[in-house]
Amino acid sequence: MFSNDLETRPNMSKKRGSADCEWLEDCESAKHGAIRGIVRKWCAFRPNMSKKRGSADCEWFYHMKNFRISNYQIRSPKLRGLAPAVFLHISDVHLHSFDARAHFYLSCMRKENPDAILVTGDMNIGREHRTLLSSARFLIEAQKIAPVYYELGNHEYKLRIRRETSPLYERYEDKLRRNGITVLHNESAVFEKAGNTFRIHGLELPMVYYRKGLPPRHTGNLLNRLLGRCPQEEFQILLAHNPRYGQDYLAWGADLTLAGHYHGGVMHLGENRGLISPQFIPFPGFACGMFEQDGRHMIVSSGMGEHTVTVRINNPRELVVIRISGDPDKD
Ligand SMILES: [Fe+2]
Repeated sequence: MFSNDLETRPNMSKKRGSADCEWLEDCESAKHGAIRGIVRKWCAFRPNMSKKRGSADCEWFYHMKNFRISNYQIRSPKLRGLAPAVFLHISDVHLHSFDARAHFYLSCMRKENPDAILVTGDMNIGREHRTLLSSARFLIEAQKIAPVYYELGNHEYKLRIRRETSPLYERYEDKLRRNGITVLHNESAVFEKAGNTFRIHGLELPMVYYRKGLPPRHTGNLLNRLLGRCPQEEFQILLAHNPRYGQDYLAWGADLTLAGHYHGGVMHLGENRGLISPQFIPFPGFACGMFEQDGRHMIVSSGMGEHTVTVRINNPRELVVIRISGDPDKD
């Protein structure tokens, strides 16, 4: 019982009016790598741009062109009332710096007026330690919009478990917690709205499940060992960065599972299909979009950024908005 309405925000383009932005658009449509390189350098020479949120802003426009907001609705007999709880799903932002893109995303998030923000990891870039600062700043700003529930992706998790980087990671997490952000390491937290209770679980899989080439095919009984058995009461939301194990997540029993990691498979080949996963597995399952099985749902974000492979074909960055309400047939 759901509807899937993917939308691009056409009205945003009306706000762009500067000659600079039109010039950038022309350069982009020319798809000329050298010119695009010059454009990026030119934008980098304008440090005040990131301060001009809401004004004509070249960087802002650049990201808008490659971005969409995906809307989903889910109805559950476990919930009462038809007024939905609004959740934002943020994944794979891979912030290089707290720049125009971060400001743009935060402004989009504010407009959605969410009740909670669910983050499925990879906010930073693992090998660039300074990007943790940008990630912290982004999440702290997001927490001012609505309570943030944060599950780590492989980029944060790697920093957390390596001896040489774990002190840095601990400082990062400490800063987040002091600002009210809920970080979930194979644990759960409760969110309540209008008499309805949502239990949010954050799954943290060992690094072997991110191995390139041939990662394990299944998690076996791992979810039960890490998270315990899925409770039946309340509405259960599972944050699980790696969608490769989607079948295991659905079998575990969460009403809604959120994932990311695949960045839409570099190239979208349809609503739920992508070309390749970060583990170099072609045509991976659960690549993007919404999946349903036995009344349980799984939504895989195409992510809000890139690293290393920065190509996206027919595969815009996306902010996911999920509205969850009671089932009118059961009320
Ligand atoms: Fe990832």
